[in-house]
Amino acid sequence: MAESQGAPAQGSAEAAASPEQKAQMEQAYAQMRRKMRMTQLDEEIKHKVMVLSGKGGVGKSTVSVGLALSLARQGKKVGLMDIDITGPNVPKMLGIEDADLHVEDGQIFPAIGPHGLKVISMAFLIEDPDKPVIWRGPIKLGAIQQFIGDVAWGELDALIIDFPPGTSDEPLTVSQALPGIDGVVIVTTPQDVALLDSRKSINFAKTISLPCLGVVENMSGYTIRGSAEPDSTISVIGPTGTPIEAQTDSDGAWSLTLDVFKSGGGAAAATELEVPFLGALPFDPGIVRGGDDGVHRIIAEPDGPTAAAFDAVVTNVLAELDGSNRPSVRIS
Ligand SMILES: Nc1ncnc2c1ncn2[C@@H]1O[C@H](COP(=O)(O)OP(=O)(O)OP(=O)(O)O)[C@@H](O)[C@H]1O
Ligand SMILES: [Mg+2]
Repeated sequence: MAESQGAPAQGSAEAAASPEQKAQMEQAYAQMRRKMRMTQLDEEIKHKVMVLSGKGGVGKSTVSVGLALSLARQGKKVGLMDIDITGPNVPKMLGIEDADLHVEDGQIFPAIGPHGLKVISMAFLIEDPDKPVIWRGPIKLGAIQQFIGDVAWGELDALIIDFPPGTSDEPLTVSQALPGIDGVVIVTTPQDVALLDSRKSINFAKTISLPCLGVVENMSGYTIRGSAEPDSTISVIGPTGTPIEAQTDSDGAWSLTLDVFKSGGGAAAATELEVPFLGALPFDPGIVRGGDDGVHRIIAEPDGPTAAAFDAVVTNVLAELDGSNRPSVRIS
């Protein structure tokens, strides 16, 4: 009867909707599509790890790139997402800042770095790298959500996510938008204040209900080498002004590791805060050169001590992820 009284026939509900209702429907569809993509992302990406620090400049981006490269050179399928929208420097560190992102069917295809590493960074979307990008909060967070929902990562063993310093909106937004994040790796430097910064980051992980996979101490000791009389003792003045002695071997070679920024702050922070210590990365001027030249230390010196230190950290991270190390600390 209703039909004979002029009610809209089935299928024409959309036609009868007001522009406002149409916009609402479109928004609901878009949200549904994004939700489906997020679920798919969770299934396709085995492990998702966020790299955070309480303080800027401690080496988060260097460590994120290093962890990703170390995993990728083991033959794993790895993605690296650079969430630092105002100062994205991951592509430069990998020498792929001129890469163009490929977009197809509304999906963004990542740039490809060394060892097949898939990279997404806001840097690819910025026309003039010298111009500061000023994003107001909601626009920035919207861009991040889009980043997450619209990237065609494909199947990955691991996705490493690099953040700007601090525990601001970005990690919160990512943790809400991306399901199934395994946990947080905290990067710190060796000084005593590291404890304070690490505590902040661990508390932040707690507030967003993510496990802390552990602490990495970056810019740990700096190793110097030389040669002198075989089987003798040499002495150098250390960073604190006191002499440090080393023995030469039968060929006259000696090496000494100097604690430029002290050492052990990361391990102490991990012990005190009862989270795993994932290892120390040496202070290596080659890392600075590599960051500027776009050739990460792992690529420039794959058999060197810095690459080995990254591999050791990755072994510990994987053990935490697989639960084969000490039980992962889930802070609730
Ligand atoms: N182990 C290291 N040895 C020597 N230099 C390092 C080491 N790790 C990082 N650096 C240098 O320190 C500087 C800061 O590193 P990086 O950009 O990775 O820090 P960040 O924590 O990501 O900084 P931001 O907080 O600005 O994002 C860079 O010049 C980098 O080359
Ligand atoms: Mg950074």
